[in-house]
Amino acid sequence: MNVYDSARMADLLASQGYAETRRQEDADLVILNTCHIREKAADKVYSELGKLAAMKHARSAAGRDMQIVVAGCVAQAEGVEALRRQRAVDLVVGPQSYHRLPELLARTARGERLTDTEFAVEDKFQFLPQPTPQQIRARGVSAFVTVQEGCDKFCSFCVVPYTRGAEVSRQVAQVVAETEGLAAAGVREITVIGQNVNAYRGEAPDGRKWPLERLLERLSHIGGVERLRYTTSHPIDMSQGLIDAHGALPQLMPFVHLPAQSGSDRVLKAMNRRHGASAYLDRVARLRKARPDIALSSDFIVGFPGETDADFEATLSLIREVGFAAAFSFKYSPRPGTPGAERSDQIDEQAKRERLRALQELIEAQRQAFNAAAIGRAFDVLFEKAGRHPGQIAGKSPYMQAVHVTGDVELIGAVAKVTIVAAGANSLAGRLAGGAAKERRH
Ligand code: 5AD
Ligand code: SF4
Repeated sequence: MNVYDSARMADLLASQGYAETRRQEDADLVILNTCHIREKAADKVYSELGKLAAMKHARSAAGRDMQIVVAGCVAQAEGVEALRRQRAVDLVVGPQSYHRLPELLARTARGERLTDTEFAVEDKFQFLPQPTPQQIRARGVSAFVTVQEGCDKFCSFCVVPYTRGAEVSRQVAQVVAETEGLAAAGVREITVIGQNVNAYRGEAPDGRKWPLERLLERLSHIGGVERLRYTTSHPIDMSQGLIDAHGALPQLMPFVHLPAQSGSDRVLKAMNRRHGASAYLDRVARLRKARPDIALSSDFIVGFPGETDADFEATLSLIREVGFAAAFSFKYSPRPGTPGAERSDQIDEQAKRERLRALQELIEAQRQAFNAAAIGRAFDVLFEKAGRHPGQIAGKSPYMQAVHVTGDVELIGAVAKVTIVAAGANSLAGRLAGGAAKERRH
């Protein structure tokens, strides 16, 4: 979501005469769009700010200014504290206020230092300009569209409900208009995003609230939209309607990111996840029934307070039972203001480290097996960019695997059949089925 938000901030500022620069030293304005999900991410912000402060001083010695803005969830959580801790910061702006950047920057340009971390009453999306076709093309053929923000779940480890606020869904018409603009400029894959995307309930032109599967079905009718994906989902909002959409909508890709966090019912309860391991496995079984080739990825946290060896074993056992194509995994990081951080039974760093290593080893073996199983199969690949070596182009399989082939750059933006010939550590090598490259040229 920060990638999407950063792009929208850049679009907004482009309409104010700003242009992106490659070198930080050249910037009149630097915005750090920050993440607060784990302590490591938040710590990085202050070390980055230290470096920027030095640059700002160097520029000011040469008679030029550098405005420094902290945006995103660290801004939301720290507020005025960020101004106190780092004198070089001019503005702190939360994720619900960035549409106000032009007026805020007009004030900082006059020497004010300020914060705006209100949860705005107005809908920021109404105030953000649509990106131009040039801006869209510069970002490639796969794009994000935010359809939902915030979270009402309050998992006991997570800061999101505090930094992003309550669950809000964008209206269907807004999402459709944004997607039409992207598709008209050449985008072929849309990933609709939200902190809790499958809890989407957006107001539709028929006056009803549409669930995610109806939105996806509507987007599938937009010319040029060849692929649809959505992320991130909560297991309890994985409705049968959405599961059925995987069997019914050809554009909906057979890959679902469905965070489990843990495989232990005891830990899941302490995490306030509102589901046990069997409910998670039930969603997976139903997804596989609707779309037998569906690939799954997940998020896991190790070392939540009170997690025993047996709890951790239950997580490994859930992973073995499902068989994932990929997964993200993290050591539990106590976050200020969350119930998990208050607990007295925190797990020591070494146990966390060992559990993370064991879990990642298992996931990595599953990922390699999943990739190796692709050898000899033919997939549709959406080509996104030139490959690392001359004459190569690179894209994605339906299952989110990176694929590279020898082929013409004119294929970028097209979907073509590829036979997989080898599986490397991080990508698959393939061969274009005969004639695909030629067909596109005429
Ligand atoms: N510590 C570690 N990982 C966390 N996540 C969220 N909060 C924490 C935390 N306090 C992970 C979850 C979530 C992903 C985005 O980040 O696995 O799904
Ligand atoms: Fe955080 Fe996701 Fe839980 Fe919401 S559902 S509190 S975003 S982990």
